[in-house]
Formats: sequence, C-alpha cells, structure tokens
Amino acid sequence: MKNIAIYGAGGLGREVACLLNTINGDNPIWNFIGFIDDVKEVGATNEYGTVLGGIDFLNSYPSALSVIIAIGNPRGVAGIVKKIRNANIEFPNIIAPDVRLVDKENMKIGIGNILSWNCTISCHVNIGNFNVFNGWVTVGHDAVIDDFNSFMTGVRIAGDTHIGNENYFGVSSVLLQKKKVGNNTIIGAGSIVIRATKDNKTYMGVPATVVEY
Ligand SMILES: CC(C)(COP(=O)(O)OP(=O)(O)OC[C@H]1O[C@@H](n2cnc3c(N)ncnc32)[C@H](O)[C@@H]1OP(=O)(O)O)[C@@H](O)C(=O)NCCC(=O)NCCS
Repeated sequence: MKNIAIYGAGGLGREVACLLNTINGDNPIWNFIGFIDDVKEVGATNEYGTVLGGIDFLNSYPSALSVIIAIGNPRGVAGIVKKIRNANIEFPNIIAPDVRLVDKENMKIGIGNILSWNCTISCHVNIGNFNVFNGWVTVGHDAVIDDFNSFMTGVRIAGDTHIGNENYFGVSSVLLQKKKVGNNTIIGAGSIVIRATKDNKTYMGVPATVVEY
C-alpha cells in the first residue's frame, strides 16, 4: 500500500477520506496517514483521521508520500501547490470506482485531480492538473479543462467548451456548448452560462450575467 495524506481537513477533505475507503474496497491501494492543514491544530481529529501538521510538516516529510489536495477554493489549491517543495511528494489522481470515463484511450488527464462519485467524462476530454470534480459532474465531448478548477456537485459542462485556470462552478451550474470560461471566474449555483465570460468576475442567474459588488 502507498502512504497518502489529504491536504485539507474540512468537508471536502473528509469526503476524500471516504473516497479513499471506497477505492480501497476489497483490494487496498492507499494507506491514509492523516490530514495536512494549515489552520486546524496538530492533533485535531475527525471521524477519518488526525491533523499531522501544515505545510512545514509536508515539506520536511522524509519519505515517499502521495498527497491529494482537497480544498474547494481554486486559488487556495494553487497557492498550496506553489508552496510544496519536497521531492518526496507526488500527486496522484483520485478517481471514484464508479466514474465513467467513456473513452480512456483518447482522454488526457494530468495530476492531482479528484473525480468524485458518479461523474461522467465524455470522449476526447483534456483535463489538466489539480481540478476538483465533486459528485455527479458531467463533462461533454472535446472539453478542455486546464488547472485548479472546482466543480461543485451536479455541474454540467457541455461539449467543445474550454475552461482555463482557477474557476469555481457552484452546485448545478451549467456551461453551454462551445463556450469559454477563462480564469478566476465564479459561476453561482444553478446559473447557466450561455456566453463567454470575462476573467476575474462573478456570474449568476439564468442566463448568467456578471455581478458587480
Ligand atoms: C455566487 C456566490 C458565490 C455569491 O456569493 P456571495 O458573494 O456571498 O453573494 P450573496 O449570497 O451575498 O448574494 C448576493 C446576491 O446575489 C444573489 N445570488 C446569490 N447566489 C445566487 C445564484 N447562485 N443565482 C442567482 N442569484 C444569486 C443573492 O440572492 C443576493 O441577491 P440580493 O442582493 O438581491 O439579495 C454564491 O451565491 C454561490 O452560488 N455559491 C456557490 C455555492 C455552492 O455551490 N456551494 C457548494 C458547496 S459544496
């Protein structure tokens, strides 16, 4: 079995601990050693494990360790990845056994991605690094998804779409076919994006429109 730690001991981190248990099933792969968390105290526990330390603990870890970053805030994930400087650390993809990858041969996927239960990824999809796909997310044919994006439960990404970096899609939001979402965009829960968005903006509603605060 390979040692693995989950970065983030919040709700998503606990879900990922459950996901590791599911993946282990009858044929255990992962030995979950605990959580890494920069906010919670060392020794804090939840149902699944104990906080071992923060970034310094990880950067001084003396042997091979897989780490999965389970944080919903895309900027947070990107910031953590930049701070990890330990050659012993590797970043596997954690994919629930029931995820449907309809054409593994023609799909690309990088490192550090989480694909939670009941996701479906259609044909010829290109997924980069450190994306979080919560449960029941669907991705249509030929979609390109770059790095550090978070898709909450039930998001629908249609075909021929392109999603850049550090975007957040709220629960049950939709991106229509051939549309592009660039970088650092927030799409509100239940919103339907029917036009290309502008970077660094929040969109809400049906159809989704930009919201200025
Ligand atoms: C878009 C979002 C990030 C905005 O959050 P926020 O900045 O805190 O905004 P507020 O909650 O203060 O709402 C601001 C206004 O937008 C409206 N609004 C908020 N979310 C909306 C949405 N998804 N669709 C339409 N309108 C929305 C609110 O009703 C409010 O309107 P009002 O000023 O007329 O009362 C948030 O509402 C959202 O949708 N988050 C996603 C949640 C999610 O998916 N969580 C998953 C956890 S697992």
